[in-house]
Amino acid sequence: MSNAMFPESGLEWPEIEKALHSFRDADVDWRHGRAPMYIFWASEEVLEVTKKAYMEYFSENALGARAFPSLVRMEAEVVRMAAEILGGDESVRGNMTSGGTESIFLAVKTARDYRRATRPVRGTPNLVVPYSGHPAYYKAAHYMDLEVRPVPTRDDFRADVDAMADAIDDDTIFVLGSAPSFSLGVFDPIEDLGRLARERDLWLHVDACVGGFIAPHVRALGYPVPAYDFSVPGVTSISADLHKLGFAAKPASTILYRDEAHYRHQGYEFDAWPRGVYKVPTFTGTRPGGAIAAAWAVLKFLGAAGYRELARQIMDVRARLQAGIRAIPELELIGDPEIGLFCYGSPSLDIRSVAEAMSRRGWLPGINADPPAIHLFLVPLHAVMVDDYLADLGVAVEEVRSGRVAAKPAALVY
Ligand SMILES: Cc1ncc(COP(=O)(O)O)c(C=O)c1O
Repeated sequence: MSNAMFPESGLEWPEIEKALHSFRDADVDWRHGRAPMYIFWASEEVLEVTKKAYMEYFSENALGARAFPSLVRMEAEVVRMAAEILGGDESVRGNMTSGGTESIFLAVKTARDYRRATRPVRGTPNLVVPYSGHPAYYKAAHYMDLEVRPVPTRDDFRADVDAMADAIDDDTIFVLGSAPSFSLGVFDPIEDLGRLARERDLWLHVDACVGGFIAPHVRALGYPVPAYDFSVPGVTSISADLHKLGFAAKPASTILYRDEAHYRHQGYEFDAWPRGVYKVPTFTGTRPGGAIAAAWAVLKFLGAAGYRELARQIMDVRARLQAGIRAIPELELIGDPEIGLFCYGSPSLDIRSVAEAMSRRGWLPGINADPPAIHLFLVPLHAVMVDDYLADLGVAVEEVRSGRVAAKPAALVY
């Protein structure tokens, strides 16, 4: 009998379906809210809409702009809707991308090429970023041979604008603020960063990959959310992920620029090969039509009122969880995050051991390294888990207090 993975004769669908289901056995039970992130589930209704829209355009490829004007149109409308949500006017330009990482990659590359064309630097171009910035900036800099200058954050975990000002020199091409940061969920002071960027004539990118599509609706409910979008003078570009709190299908994000003068430096064109002109606006070649159609559909389906309702559900889940965590004396909430992403730690216990005790109870704990904390990135789905989570958390804390559970190194992985 052959051990080959690739079969000589194809399998029938029932056998394939059975295998697909069985592969899931070891996966986290996200449907009951046991994953702290990764799944952005709003409701069965939203899921149905995104699935149906995705399937309508499953085969189409946005690389073929001449072949599929439908996708060109939907992408342009998604960009327009994102610009409206993010305080932009008619001059905002941008694209859909495969995710936050690609959006960030493009923002960095476009800032570099804009600067090369307008005011070239003499040394290695550098990016001045708060320590809380996402690894994607380091990844982009690594790929493009740029330097990253991380600047420690303030005691409230927000960007320290004075310290960032000190880190800027003649070779700085890019300044970052997050809305909010992934690690502790707090918004950087984007208005202060905007002032700095204008004074020093620098590119300010706002990483709204997490907050972009939900924060305006959280604010509309009356929660304090600081200004972070194109309404802030000095903001040059914004990344905002549709496949996170936009509740669209993966892979989907947006990268937006204040105007054409900046956007012009994003695309890539090449013609020195047998096939003639190759011209793409983003990093990838083939782009899934389904992801574009699903994003367009979910934005139209939910509208502002739909997102407000999802924001309300997220903030309600957050309030219930935070009240339960506050009621456990060994635990404390960290910082003052604005939306449904927050961390808690412990002054008296090893929080990683608490995470280990939670993972033994079937939860996948999100781990923050510095400060050590458990990290939660909430979506409406998490409403189903609050009571079970808090009950297990009480037991987990007790197990660690009594010395019955200690952290395993594996629990530290992102
Ligand atoms: C603030 C922030 N920026 C960028 C990213 C990268 O997004 P993606 O994983 O979609 O590439 C993330 C992912 O969590 C994020 O939280």
